[in-house]
Amino acid sequence: MKKNTLIISIILLAIIGCQKSTGIKEGRKDIDRKVDSVLNLMTLEEKIGQMNQYNGFWDVTGPVPSDGDAAKKYEHLRKGLVGSMLNVRGVANVKKVQKIAVEESRLGIPLIIGFDVIHGYETQSPIPIAESASWDLEAIKKSAAMAAKEAAAAGINWTFAPMVDISRDPRWGRVMEGAGEDTFLGSKIAVARVKGFQGEDLSSPATLAACAKHFAAYGFAESGKDYNTVDVGTSTLYNTILPPFKAAKDADVKTFMNAFNELNGIPATGNAFLQREILKGRWNFKGFVVSDWGSIMEMMAHGYVKDKKDAADLAVKAGSDMDMESYAYINELAELVNDGSVKESLIDDAVRRILKVKFELGLFEDPYKYCNEEREKSVIGSKEIQEAALDIAKKSIVLLKNENKVLPLKKSGQKIALIGGLAADKNSPLGSWRLAAKDNSAISVLEGMQKYKENELIYAEGASVAVGATNFINEVQVNLTDTSKFNKAIEAAKKSDVVVMVLGEVGFQSGEARSSTSLDLPGIQQELLEAVYQVNKNIVLVLNNGRPLTINWAEMNIPAIVEAWQLGSQTGNAVAQVLYGDYNPSGKLPMTFPRSVGQIPIYYNYKNTGRPGPKKEVFWSHYQDETNKPLYPFGYGLSYTTFSYNDIQVSTQGKNVKVIVNVTNTGEVEGKEVVQLYIRDMIASVTRPVKELKGFELITLKPKETKTVTFTLTEKELGFFNNTGAFIVEPGEFKVFVGGSSDTSLETSFDFL
Ligand code: NOJ
Repeated sequence: MKKNTLIISIILLAIIGCQKSTGIKEGRKDIDRKVDSVLNLMTLEEKIGQMNQYNGFWDVTGPVPSDGDAAKKYEHLRKGLVGSMLNVRGVANVKKVQKIAVEESRLGIPLIIGFDVIHGYETQSPIPIAESASWDLEAIKKSAAMAAKEAAAAGINWTFAPMVDISRDPRWGRVMEGAGEDTFLGSKIAVARVKGFQGEDLSSPATLAACAKHFAAYGFAESGKDYNTVDVGTSTLYNTILPPFKAAKDADVKTFMNAFNELNGIPATGNAFLQREILKGRWNFKGFVVSDWGSIMEMMAHGYVKDKKDAADLAVKAGSDMDMESYAYINELAELVNDGSVKESLIDDAVRRILKVKFELGLFEDPYKYCNEEREKSVIGSKEIQEAALDIAKKSIVLLKNENKVLPLKKSGQKIALIGGLAADKNSPLGSWRLAAKDNSAISVLEGMQKYKENELIYAEGASVAVGATNFINEVQVNLTDTSKFNKAIEAAKKSDVVVMVLGEVGFQSGEARSSTSLDLPGIQQELLEAVYQVNKNIVLVLNNGRPLTINWAEMNIPAIVEAWQLGSQTGNAVAQVLYGDYNPSGKLPMTFPRSVGQIPIYYNYKNTGRPGPKKEVFWSHYQDETNKPLYPFGYGLSYTTFSYNDIQVSTQGKNVKVIVNVTNTGEVEGKEVVQLYIRDMIASVTRPVKELKGFELITLKPKETKTVTFTLTEKELGFFNNTGAFIVEPGEFKVFVGGSSDTSLETSFDFL
């Protein structure tokens, strides 16, 4: 049969299966029928082809294997031996490969096109850790929806996001890509992002299939070194690491990505306990699992398998359905099936999962659904997308310090010096996952501030952060010596009323493979800060960075500090609006800021230990040269107004516990506050942390206004996982804390019966 005739018959089968569908259950059965009808037509080679994902020929987001030549990839596309491509973007490019797959291969099965749409496609919204600081789930969802809309208009239909890895280690550069250190917040954000990307209708040309990654425990790499060994106990695995993945699964995320790391001696990619027992077993996940880039073959380097054949064998048995850039499945699986080592039913299971997502995306109905040039032109960079990026950028900013009301800045009659290597930078605000963004396309802080014309603005760079060009693939060279521009900056500071200094990390200093042993301001920026401080102490420090930094000196000496992360395309506008008070900052830290690297891992929900303190003698859990306290705790962030918390009350009604608190705006301007609720389970069969976030609400209060906030705690919030992974709820005493940060002391308690 000719291929075109065949594809028509596939589609016909699909449509026949579709006709009488009623309700979700029926719809699912329909898709299962369609999947089976396609599967029945496939040869073993074609099935394995569906499990094969190739990198495209334009962008590279990992080390390229030597056998990755383009000619072979085109040939495989023609033979129906490719199920997916990543890093092919733009309608024209996607159409080109899709056309080969659909019109030249025997069965014409469409490709699923993956891309790292992490916080935007061409338009970047804030990096994920920044967005998480908004604690605004609606805004986060909208941001993901906008990213999906833009990426889908460029031919993409699958994003490798959200990264839901919890991490307590800011040395790990990928904390920029996650939701921070907390499981409760991280789970809520995981759901918001999945729903944002996937929308209500996955087959719409404005949504993408999402991917919860990296399964699992990638954020717990020893010493914060990327790709490093992970060794965590069951309590941490079940209570801290897995819940955001489970939340993503429950939100119907279509795919998972496994991880580069080993977990307790077994590489995640070959880990049947994680993928078969937990994900596809206990959780009944019906989507598919893609490997991380080359992670199947990397099991050789782990010392877990001897060759690629062994790697393919173990990976498929462990539940990895699609091979990203290892060339292991395409080269080895057929032989493994033929010699009886791998059952064909395992292959069928993987292919079913992959085809199912393709059907759900509507690719069989119209493989060019995401390839409309008109849409591409009108959607990418549109006003709607830019506005949403600005909205979440403002919401992501965290005010860390504001002494003497230095902020907000007066709008007129001021001489302002704007100093710092990042002040005029139009590239760094885009972050490191900004593959499809145009270089230097962000609005810089300088440009944002220039819009406030009634002040005099003097810009002086002071010191560049990096030397030479920076990119995704190569190490950033930090400026360690060139102080030649210091003097100009010092002169500008001398004659100014206020100095705004924009310091921190360039975009490629955080992200994948960007681990650091120092969290100080990189290079000579601290020196510059202190030199400027000598001549003008009225400084606003604006931080641009992808991870918590150790800024103790600044905290002690600089009157105002603003955490502005890498806020994406609209950075300058967002920062300027906050500095001038047109937006009252409301962000709260999703990750603890340490005082020193030696405190890491430092996180708010630590365990009490058998020797808590402080004590007079030395015999308690502490450091002799540093306090146990962080520089800024999880959940912390100020506003241009102040809030007071009063009248905490708790009442139990059966298995529900109600916690009520009054929150008042005690300042002069309207403001938003993230009201946070923490619990402590005092005695448990597996010890519990001293505090655990279990609720939060974002409220807006006018000056002097009071609102009553009510939280309801159920068994879901009060229980925990024991060391077998069973969720249990134990009666006993609980403390409850409410406030504007994890450091709150307003507390009460109740007995749960
Ligand atoms: C490796 C990264 O770990 C993963 O998160 C990403 O999605 C893939 N590369 C594809 O670029």
